[in-house]
Amino acid sequence: MSTEPKRVAPLFLISPDGMLGRAFSALFEGKAGASRTRIPGQRLPFDALSYPSLDLRDASSIERAVQPGCSLVINCAAYTDVDGAEQHEADANAVNAEGVGLLAARCRAVGACLLHFSTDYVFDGRASTPYPVDAPRAPQNAYGRSKARGEELLEASGAEYLIVRTSWLYAPWGKNFVDTIARAARERPALRVVNDQRGRPTSAEYLAERSFALATQGARGAYHVTDGGECTWYDFASEIVRLEGASARVEPCTSAEFVRPAQRPAYSVLDLARTESLLGPSRPWQENLADVLRARRS
Ligand SMILES: NC(=O)c1ccc[n+]([C@@H]2O[C@H](COP(=O)([O-])OP(=O)(O)OC[C@H]3O[C@@H](n4cnc5c(N)ncnc54)[C@H](OP(=O)(O)O)[C@@H]3O)[C@@H](O)[C@H]2O)c1
Repeated sequence: MSTEPKRVAPLFLISPDGMLGRAFSALFEGKAGASRTRIPGQRLPFDALSYPSLDLRDASSIERAVQPGCSLVINCAAYTDVDGAEQHEADANAVNAEGVGLLAARCRAVGACLLHFSTDYVFDGRASTPYPVDAPRAPQNAYGRSKARGEELLEASGAEYLIVRTSWLYAPWGKNFVDTIARAARERPALRVVNDQRGRPTSAEYLAERSFALATQGARGAYHVTDGGECTWYDFASEIVRLEGASARVEPCTSAEFVRPAQRPAYSVLDLARTESLLGPSRPWQENLADVLRARRS
């Protein structure tokens, strides 16, 4: 039996099975992406672990997973049930706040940079112009509070870090708005979609590419990454139905007609200037969406 220590890859991916985690796995495995902005074939060595092998609530499992020799830890794990968090705020905090604190402490101990993802929900949603990266955090729901606390703990940890806030994620896989609307458009004659929440959709693959580019180009601190442009959920749904060639009617409605446990921000457009100054303009959401729908069909 070999006594050689296991080689530690420079990249460590947490939650390769989630919506964003799958996008990072595909990126590092050199697979052709839906977004077509990627050069396929370039493989990058990485290690990865999913829950429950790695549980962010458990310092010892983090310690076993994140080993010296790793230089960038990519955290795609989170408690992401926005409505569930209203009833289970302690569970959301255990992963999104304290768990991030534990992970940051481990990254600091092994000298790795932590690429962490956060959300537009850390802001109050009352603005009428895009939220800059240094806008004050004022979350309006339990999930947003847990993510904001995670940001604070990471900032205070002394670890080297890059926080990437994003919004309205979608991908060719998993349960997400694009999948829901594309399915519903085939099954129902009409769909009602809220037209009073404004934000920026984000392709998970595009997010993985842009945030990894930020990390490797030395960006540190807080950045925002989304698709380019902005829209309401109604606009987004209308474009999904149009691109799918479905005959379903899309009808606008208000958030008041769709009461959910967690309050959603009316305006959550993230300002992209800091990211665009390094990486250039963001790709329009209509283009990323068309690519994702094409990949979803194939
Ligand atoms: N989805 C969005 O629209 C959106 C918007 C803004 C920001 N974000 C942020 O983007 C990041 C990625 O989101 P996503 O949509 O890709 O999430 P996702 O698909 O829900 O994946 C989250 C992953 O975290 C894992 N996880 C849950 N609890 C864990 C724990 N205690 N320890 C380790 N892993 C755990 C889950 O495992 P199980 O499946 O086994 O539970 C799942 O694989 C998150 O930070 C999220 O807050 C997402």
